[in-house]
Parts: sequence; C-alpha cells; structure tokens
Amino acid sequence: MFLRSAIFLLCFVPILGFLCQENSPVYRFTIGDIRATVIYDGFLTFTTPPFFAPVEDVNASYSACFRSIDPLTLSQNVLVLDTEAGRVLIDPGARGGEEVPVLASAGLLFKNMRAAGIPPESIDHVFLTHGHADHVSGLLGLEGGPAFPNAKLYVGVTENRFWMTEPLPISEDHPLRDTLLYRDGVAPYAPSLQLVEEDSSPLPGFRFMSNTGHSPGHNYIEVESNGETLIVSGDTWESKPDQLQNPDWQIGTETDPPMARRSRVKLLRKVARNRSLVLSFHEAFPGLGHVVKSGRRSFDWVVAPPRNIGTGVVQKCFS
Ligand SMILES: *[C@@H]1O[C@H](CO)[C@@H](O)[C@H](O)[C@H]1NC(C)=O
Ligand SMILES: *[C@@H]1O[C@H](CO)[C@@H](O)[C@H](O)[C@H]1NC(C)=O
Repeated sequence: MFLRSAIFLLCFVPILGFLCQENSPVYRFTIGDIRATVIYDGFLTFTTPPFFAPVEDVNASYSACFRSIDPLTLSQNVLVLDTEAGRVLIDPGARGGEEVPVLASAGLLFKNMRAAGIPPESIDHVFLTHGHADHVSGLLGLEGGPAFPNAKLYVGVTENRFWMTEPLPISEDHPLRDTLLYRDGVAPYAPSLQLVEEDSSPLPGFRFMSNTGHSPGHNYIEVESNGETLIVSGDTWESKPDQLQNPDWQIGTETDPPMARRSRVKLLRKVARNRSLVLSFHEAFPGLGHVVKSGRRSFDWVVAPPRNIGTGVVQKCFS
C-alpha cells in the first residue's frame, strides 16, 4: 500500500509540477503614480473571419503574424487602474456562456481577478468604451446581480442612449444579442449609472474621447498621471493583422463603417505621431504597445518593452 502511494506520488507530482508552467494571466505596469493591471478575460472565437475582406487576404495577414484563421481568435484584455480616486476597471469583458458561441471562450475575468488578488468587490468605478457584448456582458455576476457590487458604472451618454432605444437587430449576425446583453448588464447599476458627456473627464486623470463609428457613442479613454499618458483604444481597431495593418477592413459589428474607418485612421495617426503607450483590448495579451506608421494607409504594432519585469522570485501557481 505504502509502495503504491509512493509510486503514485513519483508519477504524478512531476505532472502537477508541469501543469504549473502556465504564464500568468495578469500583467502589471505603472503610468505615473497609477498602478495598472491587465487581466486576461480569455478570447473570442470566430469560425469564419468577421472582417469584410477576401478570406485569402485575411489568412495571408494572420499567417504572416503566425496566427490562424481556423478558428480566428481575439484576446480580451481588461484593464484595472489603482488611482487616488479609487480602483477603476475598463470594459469587464464577455462573461462566457455557451448561448453565444463567439463569447464562450471568454469570461475568465472573475477567476483571474481573484487569482491576482483583485476581488470584484474592490472595484469602485467601471468604465465602458462602448456597448458591445464582448465588453459589457461581464457587468452581470455569474449568479445574476452586479458582478461589481460596490462600483459605479460610467458610459458615454450617446452610447447608452443608442443601446437603450435601439429597437432592431444591428446586423444579421447579431440578432438583438448586443442590445439585450447591454440592457441586462447595465440594469443592476441603474441607481449609480453615470452618463459621461463626450470629451469630458468623469474622474481626475481620465478623459472619455469620442470616436464614433464602431458604435454610435464609442469612446477611447485617455489616462494621465504624473506626466505619463496611456491611451485605452477600446475597439477603435481590433488587432495587428486585421484593422491595424489594414484600417479599411470593416468588421461585422460596426454600426457606421465609413465613420469607423475615419475614426480609426485618425486615432492611429495621432498615437503614432505622439509615440503614445496604448492598451488595445483585442491585441495579443497583454495588449500593451505602440503604433507606428508602416505605409500610406497602414500601421504596425510594436509590443511595449517589458515594464516591471519583477525580481526573479518564482510566484505560486494560479488555480
Ligand atoms: C492560410 O495560409 C496558410 C499559409 O499560406 C496555409 O497553410 C493555410 O492552409 C491557409 N488557411 C486557410 C484556412 O486558408
Ligand atoms: C502626447 O503625449 C504626451 C506624453 O505622453 C501627452 O502629454 C500629450 O498630451 C500627448 N498629445 C496628444 C495630442 O495626444
């Protein structure tokens, strides 16, 4: 009996050790005096590419970045910021759930927040860049009710009006889904909902910047602290091989494609010229980097040099 246990241990302990060799789903850095954490919410899964471009072109671009289109996946990078005004979370991700296949591989946020020592109860303010389901479904807790019971919710006034009054499906692919998931997500926060005017600052150090097109009231968010700036781009573009290298590629969820393209190129030019640090929601995790101009109408992504790489102390595994 003892021998069997010993053999069992010898066989399985190394395997358990091996299972611990995952990368952490959390990335920490600073912007001025703000402590920032990117938390991985998993990824979206598309069985056919969601871009209105020839599939060979999408494949060629993804292939050149060593990425597959079968399926095509997009990371979900949720940002938490510890500021003097409290703890802010931007875009609480997709919540998961089998009922919407694209979102089923996302929704790891709550698990990964707890592993990171950032419980959902500790969030004071939740900001939304826009109302699409992959950004807002995580507002609703897994048992219903608010996922962030102590948080106020902030959303652009135009964006909120659109989702609260829009009576029709916005596209064939998304019959009523976004509208309903937005309303379900926002409902538990109704008593504290803060509607933010375009180009205004709801909290010191933060500014909602209107760039309509992806959705009617889409905002990107500027974060500023002690001389440093971070641009949280939301869905102004999706990721490097698609709308960053090819700003003309429309994605199925855009409500005004020509306007979305103009807003995209405008922000890409601005952050490239200004060498800004950017947090991109759907870029490969952690989605922290810089945009450079690579052609007349194309841009490229440069991963930010490692920040805050740590002291080499091995941390215990996340479970
Ligand atoms: C995508 O391109 C790669 C490299 O050219 C090729 O091996 C692969 O079969 C293509 N996949 C699809 C789905 O077209
Ligand atoms: C450019 O970046 C600097 C430093 O990050 C910032 O202070 C400034 O406001 C930015 N300018 C624009 C136009 O974004």
